[in-house]
Amino acid sequence: MNNRLGILLSGRGSNFQAISDRILAGRLNASIACVISNRPEAPGLAIARQRGLPALSIPSRGLDRESYDRLLLDQLRAHDIGLVCLAGYMRLLSAAFIRAYPLRILNIHPSLLPSFPGLDAQHQALVHGVRFTGCTVHFVDEDLDSGPIIEQAVVPVEDGDTLETLSARILVEEHRIYSEAIATVLEGRYRIEGRRVLKYPR
Ligand code: GRF
Repeated sequence: MNNRLGILLSGRGSNFQAISDRILAGRLNASIACVISNRPEAPGLAIARQRGLPALSIPSRGLDRESYDRLLLDQLRAHDIGLVCLAGYMRLLSAAFIRAYPLRILNIHPSLLPSFPGLDAQHQALVHGVRFTGCTVHFVDEDLDSGPIIEQAVVPVEDGDTLETLSARILVEEHRIYSEAIATVLEGRYRIEGRRVLKYPR
């Protein structure tokens, strides 16, 4: 697998920025070959442009999922992407897209999966009253937030937490573990047994 990353995002882009920072600091051996957003106004796209990275907006309005994903695949292939990283990408991917990149699509989710999949995971955790939540980097399969887990970090929920304070502490861990999971996958330092991702030390 080559180490050219294709980042898909829909919004703020802080996870993308953290990955980019790691690469710039020489702590992640990868390059960001393109950043694609389905939302032209996504702040993450503007950050990519400021950093001189190829940044594309492909609006999804009026297109069915398969047609849209074909456009995405065309761009990812044109940029010779080795690994697709979803970073706050707010669309489901088609089965055809997922089959095109087997074990080469990662996602970050702000909970300890399989708890609290889907939208508003931090809110779900607060409302449920769990003492610990966190974040997960996993391979993307055809179900929502369900593929094999590569990396997780635990974040305690404090009594005084609000959605904002809890989300902020989870985000710090997201930024750390996403790059670690990318390195594990790019370096092929794992094998999969059933659903378990077993990692080899560096
Ligand atoms: C993060 O909380 C991530 O876990 C979730 O969407 C959010 C994206 O944030 N999938 P950002 O755009 O990376 O700042």
